[in-house]
This record gives sequence, structure tokens and C-alpha cells, in this order.
Amino acid sequence: MKRIMFICLGNICRSPMAEIIFRDMAEKAGRSDEFVIASSATSNENVWNGIGAEVYPPAKKILAKHGLSVGNKRAVQLTAADYGKYDLFVCMDKNNVRNASRILGGDKDGKICMLMDFTNRPGDVSDPWYTGDFETAYNDIYEGCKGLLEQETRL
Ligand code: 4NP
Repeated sequence: MKRIMFICLGNICRSPMAEIIFRDMAEKAGRSDEFVIASSATSNENVWNGIGAEVYPPAKKILAKHGLSVGNKRAVQLTAADYGKYDLFVCMDKNNVRNASRILGGDKDGKICMLMDFTNRPGDVSDPWYTGDFETAYNDIYEGCKGLLEQETRL
């Protein structure tokens, strides 16, 4: 069983998209039982009084366009205790890597990585919060998830 935590700044756009896309991909490949999949934020901006924000509507819309529903996903913040609960912390950009490492108290087991490292064009996932381009973000995330799922097969 591989426990995967997808991470972005707010947990309302990129990392929920990755969580939902990867879960669907694993299901379609008949491999759901191999994974525990979650997502979280490095910031506390979208988590008030323990009740997280819903997935940002344009992110819901692009997922729906691809036949995916967000269900009852709400934003949560990454915590230090998550380090022992997950095997892989898959970040959407370099800032997430730095902030996740700070929250998790370092990365002694080398669990933190970036989603686009699983593609042939490493770097940041296009950030739709700033670009407004959810299609490009979806395509980046889809490609990263595909690479991640394939790599997990080889382990
Ligand atoms: P996410 O998008 O990190 O992909 O969920 C963002 C959400 C909120 C903000 C930035 C990015 N913000 O600045 O509030």
C-alpha cells in the first residue's frame, strides 16, 4: 500500500485536482487497493475553525468537463504528524516543497517530491490561481499523475 499526499498552497485548486485525477486513474487501472490518496495545503488560508473551503468552482468545472466529481472534498492543512502517515508528499511547485519541508520538520526519509518530476518536463505545475488557465493546469496534473502511477508499477 502506497500512501500519497498531494500538496499545494491552498488545497482548493491544484492538489485536490491531483487527488481526484490520480484516484480516478488508479480506479480505471483496477489499482485502487494499492493506494491511500489525500491532499492538503501548506497555508492555513482556506481552513477556518476546522472547516475547510470547498474546491474552487473553476477547478470543479474543469474536473466535471473530464467526467470527474469532487465529492465532499474540503481544504485541510498539512501537519507534522502527516510525515509518518504518508509515504510520498507530491508537491505542485518549488514553494510547496520548501513549505512542506518546514511543516513536516525536514525530510529525513526523502519522501518529498514534485509532481512534474514524474514527466519528461520537470518543474512547477502551471498555477491556475494566477494564470486563470485551468485547462493547462489540468493537463500538467494529468501528465504528472500518469507518470506517478506508471512509476509505482515499476517499484
Ligand atoms: P492552490 O491555489 O494552491 O492550487 O489551491 C491557490 C489557492 C489560493 C491562493 C493561491 C493559490 N491564495 O493566494 O489564496
